[in-house]
Amino acid sequence: MSDFFNTVSSRRSVKVYDPEAHISKEELTELLQIAGRAPSAWNLQQWHFLVFHGKDVQEKLLPIAYNQQQIVDASAVICVLGDLEANLNIDPVFGPQVEEGEITPELKEILAGQINGAYKRPEYPRDGAILNSSLAAMQFMLAARAKGYDTCPIGGFNASGLIDEFNVSGRYLPTMLITIGKKRQEGRPTDRLPIESLITYAE
Ligand SMILES: Cc1cc2nc3c(=O)[nH]c(=O)nc-3n(C[C@H](O)[C@H](O)[C@H](O)COP(=O)(O)O)c2cc1C
Repeated sequence: MSDFFNTVSSRRSVKVYDPEAHISKEELTELLQIAGRAPSAWNLQQWHFLVFHGKDVQEKLLPIAYNQQQIVDASAVICVLGDLEANLNIDPVFGPQVEEGEITPELKEILAGQINGAYKRPEYPRDGAILNSSLAAMQFMLAARAKGYDTCPIGGFNASGLIDEFNVSGRYLPTMLITIGKKRQEGRPTDRLPIESLITYAE
């Protein structure tokens, strides 16, 4: 089995962590950089990572995540934020590509027109934020597993409480928390619905 399939099949949502295990800032940065290699609509990278690294700040997060013990026992917690204004990334993303001759200025203008059109649609900023940042979140969890860490995605938290407590800008929407660390207890085994029940071939 390749490393990739081992990584995928050994990932579990781990909820009981070794509170003594440590992850360095450098390792977190590397994992977040890999997470950010996820695809995104127009490559706008509609995510931002709010990192809780250190027992003090993890304790502050604990009640916001309804006192789930893993928040403090994990080595760090990442709040994956979705960017509601990723159209502001047009210049930083495409400017260098024009300068490098990878795309023409005309193509940049066409893409900018598409993007600005999408971001004027009332539902798009939120849909785009959740959709794209979730891809980065999944990539983070798999990268962490490949490096020997365990993770758990967490939707059980008070998003508005987190925004208030940690002064999150109105530009961002919390998509999920992810705990990362070393397991003290295996993740509970889970099964999946039969794949046949989840596939329809279009006619
Ligand atoms: C969006 C989302 C929200 C979740 N929220 C929580 C949570 O609040 N607390 C928790 O312990 N697990 C949470 N989980 C983990 C799921 O329980 C777990 O992924 C699922 O049972 C499948 O198990 P596995 O990841 O080990 O395969 C969440 C998972 C996802 C994808």
